[in-house]
Amino acid sequence: MSTDPRDVPMVALNDGSAIPQIGFGTWQVAPEEAEAATSEAFSVGYRHVDTAAVYANEAEVGLAIAGSGLARDDLYVTTKLWNPDHGYDEAMAAFDRSMGKLGIERLDLYLIHWQCVQFGKYVDTWRALIDLRESGRVTSIGVSNFKEPALREIIDATGVVPVLNQVELHPWLPQTELRAVHAELGIATESWSPLASGQLIGDPILATIAEKHGKSTAQVMIRWHLQLGLIVLPKSVTPSRIAENIDVFDFELDESDMAAIATLESGRRTGPDPDEYLELGW
Ligand SMILES: NC(=O)c1ccc[n+]([C@@H]2O[C@H](COP(=O)([O-])OP(=O)(O)OC[C@H]3O[C@@H](n4cnc5c(N)ncnc54)[C@H](OP(=O)(O)O)[C@@H]3O)[C@@H](O)[C@H]2O)c1
Repeated sequence: MSTDPRDVPMVALNDGSAIPQIGFGTWQVAPEEAEAATSEAFSVGYRHVDTAAVYANEAEVGLAIAGSGLARDDLYVTTKLWNPDHGYDEAMAAFDRSMGKLGIERLDLYLIHWQCVQFGKYVDTWRALIDLRESGRVTSIGVSNFKEPALREIIDATGVVPVLNQVELHPWLPQTELRAVHAELGIATESWSPLASGQLIGDPILATIAEKHGKSTAQVMIRWHLQLGLIVLPKSVTPSRIAENIDVFDFELDESDMAAIATLESGRRTGPDPDEYLELGW
């Protein structure tokens, strides 16, 4: 089973580029399984992969890119700057290391992984990303796990608006207020842990909706993200699930489904609150 990559909508970004609305997530994909899992994702229709320096699998994702037989321009690749690499010079060096591991000449999207407010360096880091974009080595730049004050600060300091903010987002945590800030600023929202790291798979409300459409609870959640206009990054190392998670273009959630999913909001996070996140190794 595979999905035609042309079925996956492209989301327009504020710098004139566009990103496939579904990407393959690779957090907790061990280096020894990352090449196979990413290759599997490409073979069933994904054209967008999300990695990070801290995932320790950039080299293996790079092998999957090299072995895919796909034109570089047909793939969308994101990686992220890890926390100790905040600061202008550190960010430049971190980007070189990531590119060396990925083995590509141009990156589609580089993100600051966490705001790390306690370091007080995110404006300097953002200036490095702006210069990297100007050098042409990365097409788009954005952030992850930024809250409104840090978002406004980097924009006010540089005049450059991140293309997107990648944040924890799933039916327990729909991030309604932050999404409104993003809409005001022209920032796209990208959902990490879109299935609540698997914890919502057995939810009975989602199961009822899934049964109604003849789909799985994972597929219902992914449709929910798509219908909210979010960019979504499901992760799996299981081939059947990798295919299932992109096979979401033959049904649509109706208003009553969306309203039922809205009742799941509880504010519950599966990861840390960015303002409280002080560790280097979550
Ligand atoms: N920026 C950040 O700070 C940040 C933080 C976390 C995640 N992310 C990104 O977001 C991506 C996704 O987040 P995530 O990995 O936490 O979780 P997720 O996609 O919400 O859930 C993944 C979990 O659900 C299971 N699963 C996936 N598809 C399934 C299906 N169809 N049926 C049943 N179970 C299914 C997976 O199991 P198997 O793998 O065993 O199949 C895995 O245990 C990451 O990989 C990463 O790229 C970013």
